[in-house]
Amino acid sequence: MKSNPIGIFDSGIGGLTIAHNIKKRLPYEKIIYFGDTKHLPYGEKSNEAIKQFSEKIIAFLKTKKCKAIIIACNSASSVAFNELEKKNKKVMIFNVVDPIINYIKNNIKNCKIGVIGTKATVRSKIYKKKITRISNNNVSSLATPLLAPMIEEGYFNEAISNTVINNYLSNAKLKNITHLILACTHYPLIQQEINNYYNGCVSVFESSKIITDYITNKLKENDLLNNNKRTIKDSFYVSNFTKSFEKSAKLFFKEKIQLKEIDLDT
Ligand code: DGL
Repeated sequence: MKSNPIGIFDSGIGGLTIAHNIKKRLPYEKIIYFGDTKHLPYGEKSNEAIKQFSEKIIAFLKTKKCKAIIIACNSASSVAFNELEKKNKKVMIFNVVDPIINYIKNNIKNCKIGVIGTKATVRSKIYKKKITRISNNNVSSLATPLLAPMIEEGYFNEAISNTVINNYLSNAKLKNITHLILACTHYPLIQQEINNYYNGCVSVFESSKIITDYITNKLKENDLLNNNKRTIKDSFYVSNFTKSFEKSAKLFFKEKIQLKEIDLDT
């Protein structure tokens, strides 16, 4: 079991930011990544559709004997996690919301926390519900649907992305925030631009790091880490292959990777 792979999935290649951090922290774990590029963006889809896509991906990752599965997508974590966990009791399933909630519970009080993410994530109100349940922090969320496609197209650290980011961050909903949650796995790529906008006045959560720490600890607690110190080849699947995904994947995973196409609908 310990030497079985860790499955990671997202609507596209944003979840590779999590895969990259997991690999850096746990180099002897084999990763099987699935990016549902055929159905991207999840943030614009109904909860029902997101659940169905996620179920198929989990079934696929189970055929690969994954010992744990990480839903590296805030949209799917927000609207599908509870059901997916209930239906798949034999495999450990992680979402990317709870690690952030756990971090806030232990570290942040009396603050105004802003959340930016896709329409599906913001519509679910998951961060607001969970944060106000465990702390006295105030939460205000803003849907920022242009950001994920913009990043996926390679627009970051330049004039266009700066304009879009500044426009969203100056929204009244985010006025007077002390902290900001980047509730989308694409956003680490624009974290620097967001930090530049706030110029040290707002603390932007290092989501990938917090998520990786949390998952690593849980795997350790459950004695699921691989003891075998051999370098292993990871596998990366997408449901729809294009050259442009392959090019962007390198930016997200920070090294060149080979994407294999597999359509789970056929
Ligand atoms: N990576 C997805 C997330 O974290 C955003 C992209 C999408 O809308 O599919 O929500």
